[in-house]
Amino acid sequence: MLREGLIYLSENRLARGFVTHAPGARTMARRFVAGEHLEEGVDVARNLNRAGMKVTLDCLGESVRNRDEARAAADVYIRLIRRIVDEQLDANVSLKMTQMGQDIDEAFLHENLKRVLDLAASNDMFVRFDMESSAYTQRTLDFFRRLWGEGYRNIGVVIQSYLKRSAADIGQLNAEGVRVRLCKGAYKEPASVAFQDKADVDANYVTLMQMLLKDGNYPGIATHDEKMIQATKEYARNIGKSVKDFEFQMLYGVRRDLQQQLVAQGYNVRIYVPFGEAWYPYLMRRMAERPANLFFIINSVLKESPLRFLAGK
Ligand code: FDA
Repeated sequence: MLREGLIYLSENRLARGFVTHAPGARTMARRFVAGEHLEEGVDVARNLNRAGMKVTLDCLGESVRNRDEARAAADVYIRLIRRIVDEQLDANVSLKMTQMGQDIDEAFLHENLKRVLDLAASNDMFVRFDMESSAYTQRTLDFFRRLWGEGYRNIGVVIQSYLKRSAADIGQLNAEGVRVRLCKGAYKEPASVAFQDKADVDANYVTLMQMLLKDGNYPGIATHDEKMIQATKEYARNIGKSVKDFEFQMLYGVRRDLQQQLVAQGYNVRIYVPFGEAWYPYLMRRMAERPANLFFIINSVLKESPLRFLAGK
């Protein structure tokens, strides 16, 4: 219930206005977001590289319906790619198609995205398309295949284990040689398309992880779930895959202990580092994944408000 409520609020304009202006909310967002500016993302990436982790940088933004805003988002990615190259960071970028104009029209999306992909390709940099709600799954994969057909090979997609269609998608993507990031899925989806029980989502995650490890192209196993991580390590060992044939991926600010442990064990670990002003929906999805996070935010909001006595300070 709480999870559904938080995901609902992540898309609600009124709640966004309230939370983004609430004192303390920004401080809380900093736990999961590098900062509001590109340079803060670059600083975090540099520190993570020093700690032996690879990075994927994400300029926050989604559901953009205005052409200027979508163009501005592509401009930030262009600056970002240049900064990654100048700084020689071990980093690539992740972006959302709805941030680049998917809801405007496909010709515009293509034109806007091409600027980013061409610059990335000429710098041998990989671009990952995040996956949004199931309303976008087919469109995102179709558009991805259009780009793949145009010869882009520096691109990859995300598949979510809560979707019932995902085994078929992974079968096809493996056959095409596409790099896939596997995650559980962060949106609210109906039972017609998605498993509703955590046990089913987890069981499917293990099946899909095995498909990717066996036949995939350098998959990204994106999870903080120790059971999924253990299953991945065991399966890789059983089929004779090296630790360098895949990477674990985790979110900035989540299970830092586990991130360091995996690096110490010799695994490739990539951290997803978001930055930017549009942090509200991202933060709400992180709350939904672990409602205990909500109590941190309430506490930090109260601490900075006239009601601070309620938070014990
Ligand atoms: P699960 O939710 O079962 O959590 C396992 C454990 O991890 C929890 O018990 C807790 O300890 C810890 N944990 C998980 N989330 C936490 C949080 N927010 N705060 C604190 N602790 C937490 N989704 C999507 O739909 N499209 C996408 O493109 C992506 N991209 C993406 C990239 C990367 C690198 C990651 C790691 C994740 C995504 N996701 C995503 C999000 C993903 O779908 C999923 O919602 C979260 O990763 C949480 O799922 P877990 O696999 O961690 O398992």
